[in-house]
Amino acid sequence: MRSTSSFLIVANRLPVDRVGEKEWRRSPGGLVTAIAPVMQRRDGAWLGWTGAAGEELKPFEDDGMHLIPVPLSEREVELYYEGFSNATLWPLYHDVVATPVYSRVLWDAYRAVNERFARAAAEAAAPGAVVWVQDYQLQLVPAILRSLRPDLKIGFFLHIPFPPVELFCQLPWRKEILEGLLGADLVGFQRPGGASNFVRLCRRLLGLQNSRNEIQVDGRAVRAEAFPISVDFGELDQLARDQRIQLRAKEIRAELGDPEHLLLGVDRLDYTKGIGQRLKAFGELLADGSVKPGDAAFVQVATPTRERVAEYVKLRGDIELRVGRINGEHGMLGRQPISYLHQSYRRDELAALYCAADVMVVTPLRDGMNLVAKEYVSCRHDLRGALVLSEFAGAADELRQAFLVNPYDIAGMKRAMLAAMRATPHELARRMRSLRRRVAGHDVDRWAGDFLSALESPASNPKSG
Ligand code: ADP
Ligand code: F6P
Repeated sequence: MRSTSSFLIVANRLPVDRVGEKEWRRSPGGLVTAIAPVMQRRDGAWLGWTGAAGEELKPFEDDGMHLIPVPLSEREVELYYEGFSNATLWPLYHDVVATPVYSRVLWDAYRAVNERFARAAAEAAAPGAVVWVQDYQLQLVPAILRSLRPDLKIGFFLHIPFPPVELFCQLPWRKEILEGLLGADLVGFQRPGGASNFVRLCRRLLGLQNSRNEIQVDGRAVRAEAFPISVDFGELDQLARDQRIQLRAKEIRAELGDPEHLLLGVDRLDYTKGIGQRLKAFGELLADGSVKPGDAAFVQVATPTRERVAEYVKLRGDIELRVGRINGEHGMLGRQPISYLHQSYRRDELAALYCAADVMVVTPLRDGMNLVAKEYVSCRHDLRGALVLSEFAGAADELRQAFLVNPYDIAGMKRAMLAAMRATPHELARRMRSLRRRVAGHDVDRWAGDFLSALESPASNPKSG
């Protein structure tokens, strides 16, 4: 068993999730999708929570990765994970599409758990190691870790949007969060706007000097920069070309009655994803006769997530009511226009769904990036298939040849879905070729490589100007 590592990922979750006594499953979400292949290609360790409360486990190996569990008690899951991370920071950082909860009890738990992660990282890191801290659940870790281990190179990447100054300023602990992040040498964001919001806030709330994207803190330079995250294009491209996946895609279409148009949504069941809005638009297309029920089928896969947080409980009720209404009004015996699946799927089944779908509908109200959009593109070597994409997803900066929509504009979404369904094969191929070029050239290896080489390259010395 190794003692310390020279490359360490620190994330709220491990890439695998505890689902029973002995069973492990891949954890949900984009962070794991992006970091797991990077880790599998490097020698290092991943430190994080197992997804089960009150569990103390020894480090173990899984799928070529060395994993170091960090325990959370039942109460910490409630206050740090469901509370401060997902009822305070998550809605605040996503344009307050739900109202954030500000509570000192939640904050205290967040601080205490961040301290535990930082201590565990300090113990697991070899002298001079590179430690890469991930996401909004662990924003205090960089500064605590630096105070414990000044010898380390510390990077931080925020997977979700970083909010504009006016919204961030609502947070009672805004200075503490900024100071926590400033413990890193490099703070990475999905979009350039996130990096400039951060620099502006450091100037305004902490009175720090900066020269462009470099902030001066206690004689150190901290860089803030955008690194748009991506997927393993090569792996998905290969998977989608597999005969078994192509056969399964045909089978899926047949099971749905071989509709002329198959529309698909794949998300965690999260209120930021705009699932209700896209279903409303589809329901209206059926209601006004633009689309006939037998001609189009919508498959919505929605992985369970954060199921005890109040907003998520409400969302599930709202979505299931809407699906029931649309199916009730437009379904036929044995055939429903919407197939709603509140389940987690294996990678190969997801790939088959991507290959089967004519129109991929990705309509978040706000999203750091959205890897589902990039996964769909990676699976469409046949150059067929259309991507309907929200302009409020980070991916919209890169995927300009998608059918871009404003998810708050239901009429606009209906037009875009129809345009996607009616586009000629020539137009679809033109758009998809350009989308694939972008994702292939900016895959997850490039993302990680860019971040890590920026982290390792020396910052300019503040004293030499
Ligand atoms: P987020 O990080 O907010 O969940 P992303 O779109 O960036 O959103 O990433 C979601 C990841 O989770 C993707 O890799 C996607 O394939 C995966 N995923 C989403 N829904 C499911 C599901 N039902 N079953 C399995 N994986 C899923
Ligand atoms: O970046 C989005 C994110 O919070 C990631 O941290 C994580 O991969 C995903 O959503 C899943 O969320 P959770 O870990 O709360 O299930």
